[in-house]
Amino acid sequence: MDVTGSTALITGASGGIGAGIATALAARGADVVLVARRADELEALAAGIRARSGRRALVVPLDLSTPDAGARVQEALGGRSVDVLVNNAGFGLSGRLADTPDLSRLGAMVTLNCTTLTDLTARFLPAMLERGSGAVVNIASMAAYLPAPGFAAYAASKAFVLSLTEALWAETRGTGVRVAALSPTVTETGFFDVAGQAAGAGLRRRSVEQVVATFFDTLDADRPVVVDGRRNEVLAATSRLVPRTPFLRVLGPRFADRVSTPAAH
Ligand SMILES: NC(=O)c1ccc[n+]([C@@H]2O[C@H](COP(=O)([O-])OP(=O)(O)OC[C@H]3O[C@@H](n4cnc5c(N)ncnc54)[C@H](OP(=O)(O)O)[C@@H]3O)[C@@H](O)[C@H]2O)c1
Repeated sequence: MDVTGSTALITGASGGIGAGIATALAARGADVVLVARRADELEALAAGIRARSGRRALVVPLDLSTPDAGARVQEALGGRSVDVLVNNAGFGLSGRLADTPDLSRLGAMVTLNCTTLTDLTARFLPAMLERGSGAVVNIASMAAYLPAPGFAAYAASKAFVLSLTEALWAETRGTGVRVAALSPTVTETGFFDVAGQAAGAGLRRRSVEQVVATFFDTLDADRPVVVDGRRNEVLAATSRLVPRTPFLRVLGPRFADRVSTPAAH
């Protein structure tokens, strides 16, 4: 997909995968709208993008874990249309669900990972369909493919993203609008500082650059789901065949034991 001259809105653009995708979209000729809470990080990224690519970069500092977040994003745009929506903002909480120290954080995670993503998609998709062009890429996770004891609500939130996006892919086929879910695996970002380092301990990490390359493959492929990394693609496909109960009996307790208390953020 040629993004030259388009406007791309990226949530969670203040760091990690979102910052990488925003920078790369601008380098390919897109104007960008950068949304996240940390205004300073967004301003610094926007200044770099303007200097390097000459593209416009609008900063929208906002907490997307509140129920009215989608409406506030739309308000901040002041009628400007969005051609490429990247629902990337998200965080994880590890630990047994019953041990959750702060239930408001749990609610915020589900609102951010599921509700706001759905709301933003429903807000911006109709205009794309009217124009007969555009793209929505929802960032899911490998954690979406199997229940994850010790990371239960996060994995369930990403299973929601995957299922929603697969259905939307079918709803929008033949319209000229591309809808897809991109599932990263363990990636070198600040994600585990928030989720708890134990959740990703001992696993090989992918780089943001690798995920960004897969993001552009996702824009080009006519597939509902793309997994970052060829090996992970096979693992994700295989996981769909795994019988759930034996899996949970054998590996569930081990998974749950691995995780530690989540870090504060
Ligand atoms: N890294 C991995 O291993 C991995 C694996 C699979 C899937 N993912 C998914 O990839 C996506 C990007 O994560 P990342 O790895 O790049 O992690 P990250 O470096 O922690 O970035 C997360 C981004 O989300 C934003 N965010 C968090 N809470 C927010 C809120 N309440 N309102 C608005 N923005 C918020 C953060 O910005 P502020 O803090 O400034 O708000 C930040 O820009 C997430 O959806 C994550 O679930 C990551």
